[in-house]
Amino acid sequence: MPSLVIVGAQWGDEAKGKMIDVLGGDASYVVRWSGGNNAGHTVIIGDQTFKFQLIPAGILHPGTVSIIGGGMVVCPKHLIEEIDRTREQRAELGELIVSPAAHVVFPYHRLLDALEEEARGENKIGTTSRGIGPAYTDKVSRIGIRMGEFVDPDIFAKRLRDVLAVKNRLLRMFDHAEIEFDALHAEYAAYAEKIRPYVKDAESRLFSAYQAGERILFEGAQGTFLDLDHGTYPYVTSSHPIAGGACLGTGLGPRHIDRVLGVAKAYTTRVGEGPFPTELNDSIGQAIRDAGHEYGTVTGRPRRCGWLDLVALRHSAAINSLSGWVMTRLDVLSGLEEIRVATAYKLPSGETKSLPGSMAEWAQAEPVYQTFKGWSGNLRPCRQWDELPAEARTFLEFVAEETGVPIAVVSVGPDRAETIIVRPDALWG
Ligand code: GDP
Ligand code: IMO
Ligand code: MG
Repeated sequence: MPSLVIVGAQWGDEAKGKMIDVLGGDASYVVRWSGGNNAGHTVIIGDQTFKFQLIPAGILHPGTVSIIGGGMVVCPKHLIEEIDRTREQRAELGELIVSPAAHVVFPYHRLLDALEEEARGENKIGTTSRGIGPAYTDKVSRIGIRMGEFVDPDIFAKRLRDVLAVKNRLLRMFDHAEIEFDALHAEYAAYAEKIRPYVKDAESRLFSAYQAGERILFEGAQGTFLDLDHGTYPYVTSSHPIAGGACLGTGLGPRHIDRVLGVAKAYTTRVGEGPFPTELNDSIGQAIRDAGHEYGTVTGRPRRCGWLDLVALRHSAAINSLSGWVMTRLDVLSGLEEIRVATAYKLPSGETKSLPGSMAEWAQAEPVYQTFKGWSGNLRPCRQWDELPAEARTFLEFVAEETGVPIAVVSVGPDRAETIIVRPDALWG
């Protein structure tokens, strides 16, 4: 069983980064497949905090190769800064490879992200303004510049000149000043020089590694309900964070995915706009935000907080073909008198256990809750399932039963060590 996908089962920030760090030491390769620096993956080891946005969190394991997969969009300036910052923080790092198929994010993408959001007015998506949507739009329109072209000076100059002419026409439509070729080209050609040594045939390396029985860990970014096709469209990102996206974004085929672990918080958060039936706009929501320091890693925005939503998690379990749950941030719920879990939605057409089919239905969905007795005390020292309070175990067992997916791992704190491996056999097999 050499390959394992770690996928965000909710709306992102489920603590995927922490899990990648926990499991990364057992893997030969850690590969990301979706998004770009809209992601923010936190790893805490002792007194050191790492925030990864483009580099896979596996980089901290010197024996592991980290791959920026072909499904990603990469801001070169950000990548160089992140490489430098990580090197300053830690002397020994694993090898980094950037797929030649990954697309490059340019300043015009960021500019257009902001201009498009402004034009949407009250229908804004609440993007991270990192140019992610416009970069993927160029990919789909077949005018994007890929890493392989970016690091070839002649091809890059020609492609940039052609694309910039199109982008400047767009900027004029927004009454925005044009971007001048020479300055942009000079700046980005210098970045390309620095990135060239990392651009290597990632897809063949991965395939050979799989054939040789080496362990491959797929690092999900964003979350299931931010998926372009399967999320709460249009309040989604422009890539494919679901487990199936791991094949698209890395080039490994579906039969090369052996296990899929879904990472979910013991409650729900969301950053940006869009449906969130179990959202708590009250003192409990604020208590969760305070206890969990729920502010975005990338933008610093307060995260919207609410109860765990099993309608969403059941759907997530199905479309990601989950083999186990990684339940995180259980410690944050300590001290609440009672804990609620949505098991169904009430719609004008009746009660349903399925996801709404349209934005209009999402807006009307009222959660049907099951209430559990809360627990108190600090869970962070717990290292075994039996050390968890009985109420917490009852809550987790209910999640497993309702979703039909076993609890494989429980996270009780941000540090690498604050982890309970409940089912070691559910990991690599
Ligand atoms: P990711 O995007 O899925 O990697 O998650 P983020 O890093 O954006 O957000 C998760 C946050 O939760 C980070 O600040 C982590 O350090 C923190 N964290 C991870 N696991 C736990 C946990 O079990 N308990 C608590 N309290 N914090 C956690
Ligand atoms: P990680 O990997 C949480 C959200 C944004 C916004 C929507 C579209 O850290 O879990 P975009 O900039 O992608 O066009 O924004 O998607 N979003 C995330 N929310 N965690 C993320 O990544 C996210 N990546 C994108 O907040 O609502
Ligand atoms: Mg995050």
